Amino acid sequence: MTQAPAPPRLRLGVNIDHVATIRNARGGDHPDPVRAAQIVAAVGGDGITAHLREDRRHIRDADIARIMAATNLPLNLEMAATEEMLEIALRHNPHAACIVPERREERTTEGGLDAAGQHNHLAPMVTRLTDANIRVSLFIEPDARQIEAAIRLRVPIVEFHTGKYAHAQGEERETELRRIADAAALAAKNGIEPHAGHGLTFDNVQPIAAIAQFAELNIGHYLIGEAIFIGLEESVRKMRELMDLAR
Ligand code: PXP
Repeated sequence: MTQAPAPPRLRLGVNIDHVATIRNARGGDHPDPVRAAQIVAAVGGDGITAHLREDRRHIRDADIARIMAATNLPLNLEMAATEEMLEIALRHNPHAACIVPERREERTTEGGLDAAGQHNHLAPMVTRLTDANIRVSLFIEPDARQIEAAIRLRVPIVEFHTGKYAHAQGEERETELRRIADAAALAAKNGIEPHAGHGLTFDNVQPIAAIAQFAELNIGHYLIGEAIFIGLEESVRKMRELMDLAR
């Protein structure tokens, strides 16, 4: 009997935005997100994620080049679908750009991008990023309608918003998990690489990491928060270990 092939190694992208949030609280240059990126590289993280927000509340323009120069890890730049962000992405040429919805008053990215409703706005952006050899990803809800929109937009990657799963309990959490697993399978079946992120912690990461189609998880707030207590190295190392155990 032939055995099912082992799922590909699940990459861990570490979102270092909240190192910059703490730095910005005092307006100086400490703690430096560049140092965080170097630690992530040293402990075997697979990538750095950073979200340049319109209001620059965490990562700032000057951080992008510094982060890219500091390690060999690929940078996944999260960006709103605006002309300003597109120009910045094209100027820096990160490995990947993840298009996220952005509302100024929100505390964090509260839901997925409406790729279905915004096709005409997104299509030229996807083309320009793709033409610059940037891998485009769309941060969407785990929902067939949004995946179909991603297929029409010909993006190579979708990242599923795991916030609802992370905040749900009991039966509702199981339902969300099934929705995410079905979405990952649908994306993969259509040749799109599925990623996931938002709200993942040591306690809730494993059922997501066990979904074989996932190629990458992007995790930030919890890892940086936990780093206060156990250090960033240990925080990343432990997340890596939990992800590996789940595969
Ligand atoms: N992926 C994307 C696209 C995000 O916008 C974020 C941050 O909101 C994350 C992953 C990481 O989420 P968290 O900080 O909750 O781990």
